[in-house]
Amino acid sequence: MSFHPITGEAGPVGDLVLMHDLSFIERRSQDTRKYLIILIASLGVMIAFVTMIVAQLSWRGWVSGAQALLRGEGLVRPLLPPSPELAPLAADLRERLRDLEDEVRRGQRSLDGWNAERLQSLLRTQLRGDQVIVVVSNREPYSHVRQADGSMKVLRPASGLVTAVEPVMRACSGTWIAHGSGSGDRESVDRHDRVALPPGEDDYLLRRVWLSEEQEQGYYYGFANEGLWPLCHVAHVRPVFREQDWEHYRQVNQLFADAVVAEARSDDPVVLVQDYHFALLPAMVRRKLPKATILTFWHIPWPNPESFGICPWRSEILEGMLGSTILGFHTRYHCKNFIETVDRYLEARIEHEHSTITFGGEQTLVESYPISIEWPLPEETREWPTPEQCRAELFERLGIPQGHRVAVGVDRFDYTKGILERLNAVERMLEKHPEWQDRFTFVQVAAPSRSALDEYRAFQERIQRATDRINARFGRPEAPVVRLLAQHHEHDAVMRLYRAADACMVTSLHDGMNLVCKEFVAARDDERGVLILSRFAGAAREMPEALVVNPYHVEETADALHQALTMPPAEQRERMATLRSTVQEFNVYRWAGRMLTDAARLRLRQRVSERVQRHSGD
Ligand code: G6P
Repeated sequence: MSFHPITGEAGPVGDLVLMHDLSFIERRSQDTRKYLIILIASLGVMIAFVTMIVAQLSWRGWVSGAQALLRGEGLVRPLLPPSPELAPLAADLRERLRDLEDEVRRGQRSLDGWNAERLQSLLRTQLRGDQVIVVVSNREPYSHVRQADGSMKVLRPASGLVTAVEPVMRACSGTWIAHGSGSGDRESVDRHDRVALPPGEDDYLLRRVWLSEEQEQGYYYGFANEGLWPLCHVAHVRPVFREQDWEHYRQVNQLFADAVVAEARSDDPVVLVQDYHFALLPAMVRRKLPKATILTFWHIPWPNPESFGICPWRSEILEGMLGSTILGFHTRYHCKNFIETVDRYLEARIEHEHSTITFGGEQTLVESYPISIEWPLPEETREWPTPEQCRAELFERLGIPQGHRVAVGVDRFDYTKGILERLNAVERMLEKHPEWQDRFTFVQVAAPSRSALDEYRAFQERIQRATDRINARFGRPEAPVVRLLAQHHEHDAVMRLYRAADACMVTSLHDGMNLVCKEFVAARDDERGVLILSRFAGAAREMPEALVVNPYHVEETADALHQALTMPPAEQRERMATLRSTVQEFNVYRWAGRMLTDAARLRLRQRVSERVQRHSGD
């Protein structure tokens, strides 16, 4: 007995017919399902194929595309048989692509993994055999200074650039080209003007370039520090542009470019150009070494197009910088300003999506690479005196009364650092909270800088006057509130000061990054101490756990200082622990590593495309 599938009625006669119908329907629906499955599967294959093409065209896909091309496989295989022309390069490139992909994967997996060893391994694997590296900067990492008693002293200058680049150089070897500015520099070099550094360790070579007094005056003091420095910082000091300074700037850029070419051991070295002293050098090197990979890092801010536009040689500067393969700034904001400036003043093709500028047939990648410090190694920190020892030593040395709370500032004596605003905030805090009078000392280390310039000398005098005023109002002759230590302090002395302090004030009016805040955090392995940080320093974006202030707002900064001095230990610890893990992870090896990974990728791309072009031209 069977039942009608719809009516449910039973019928002996209709059973056979019904069974036949049913099996027919089942077969039909099975066939339909089969067709559907085949259709879906083919669609899937097609989608996968299209995805593969898209992936091949994207960057990561480009790498695998290149791999496939080298194997003679992939999309172009049926049309283009593998060329014997590519064979000699293929094995090498394949290996490098693997390394590069590994590096990208490692970078994605563990952002915390950057250290000297990893940077070295990146250089060994991805830039293997390439000449790594020629660094160019104005300031030298060490200067030799002849002392009055005839002895020679080796000094590390107060410079964020040197703080950041020196550990990278120690890890990479290579040659550093810089201005020999120390009184004993000439006596300390060999006949090629070279000296091995750091003293006693000989990890890399410094090649010193000598400048005449007029050149130094025009290029360094004049165009770089009276022109570009205030132009880019927009800190209410008028830039000064003199034709003569510009001429020296051009000359000295050429001098250093020639030194780079002389030091290059191949036709495609990796050249790291540092800062605003060398805006013209990238294009000069490019003319002599068209295949060089030139990474230019601009350590100071880049202003908006209107502000930059007042420079009489704006186009020449932009064109010079666009000789770079990669142009790095600390923040996306500075990259955006630069791209907009090029857009305004040059005829260039800009691809916003990829952050590239094509000018004169050459492409420049404009990217942000936030600079940082070398995180101290355990071997080093084990040797550090305890915060209590540092404090006792500081109190004793400066005669600070027992029981005082101490805040510190450590800067070059520069009008961009907001030292005056900081002192005003200290004064305001003492007015608003008289309970801190005779219970608080502010120690300001100010390393003399560019003192040959009027603007800097006038600034130093203003700071001295403000210090005297505050001390007269709130201090006692034997216990001044503000201690102004206007001399250079070595790294070790600064570390002790950081460890002794209850708070550190970084109140820059504008700063590319600022490394003092990162050094303070690195010095506080006791997770105590409070950081007050200007919102106008690039570092503020990475360090929101600091007390972030507008240094122009004296009330806000004064309140932050009071908050810092009264912050419970648990909150200090919480903020400091987060800051420390950020700086440890985003350290200077990551800064260099990211730039060099990008450089390796672009070099590889360039080599493959040259090879393919040559092949298709045959
Ligand atoms: C800033 C600049 C560096 C410079 C440093 C010290 O950090 O970006 O290029 O070296 O200041 O200034 P100085 O003029 O003494 O080299």
